[in-house]
Amino acid sequence: MEKNIVLIGFMGTGKSSVGMKLAQKLKRQFVDMDKEIERITGLSVSNIFKLHGEIRFRSEEKLLSGKLACQSGLVIATGGGVVLEQENIDVLRRNGILICLQAGAQEIFERVSRRRGTRPLLKKDLRLEDIEDMLKARESFYAQARYQVNTSHKSPEQVSNEIIGLLKNSER
Ligand code: S3P
Repeated sequence: MEKNIVLIGFMGTGKSSVGMKLAQKLKRQFVDMDKEIERITGLSVSNIFKLHGEIRFRSEEKLLSGKLACQSGLVIATGGGVVLEQENIDVLRRNGILICLQAGAQEIFERVSRRRGTRPLLKKDLRLEDIEDMLKARESFYAQARYQVNTSHKSPEQVSNEIIGLLKNSER
């Protein structure tokens, strides 16, 4: 049974674009958790937060983590906050290899500022320090991944090749 490849990491580190590329290269099915939650609920992530609150979104994330962990051979791009629930990390790790994508605070700040409207946790007057604070608060959760991969100034193509290399070496 092929383990899932689970991409975790902060917003704007490239989980969705790298995940899509990686799945293409490995000929695996790709699941973007945010998109899947939008499909299941019929609401955008922003609207789930707005209409039902973060708690509802986190409970959808938890349900979906459990469901995906029962499947194998997937490439999964998680939402940046899935790791805030230790149970999600544990369940996804049971049948998956956790890979954390990283980028510097400045680069994350620039990337998310371009599409801030789709990310309800980021306020309108977002500052670099807010990103630094959130990164710090989440550090210990992201550190639980088997591999850390820096995506700064790299294309999804480069990052996915790097991940394929790591996975090959770990098979030896
Ligand atoms: C979140 C990250 C988002 C999305 C939601 C909450 C977070 O996903 O799940 O807005 O708590 O970090 P991306 O990491 O894909 O932006």
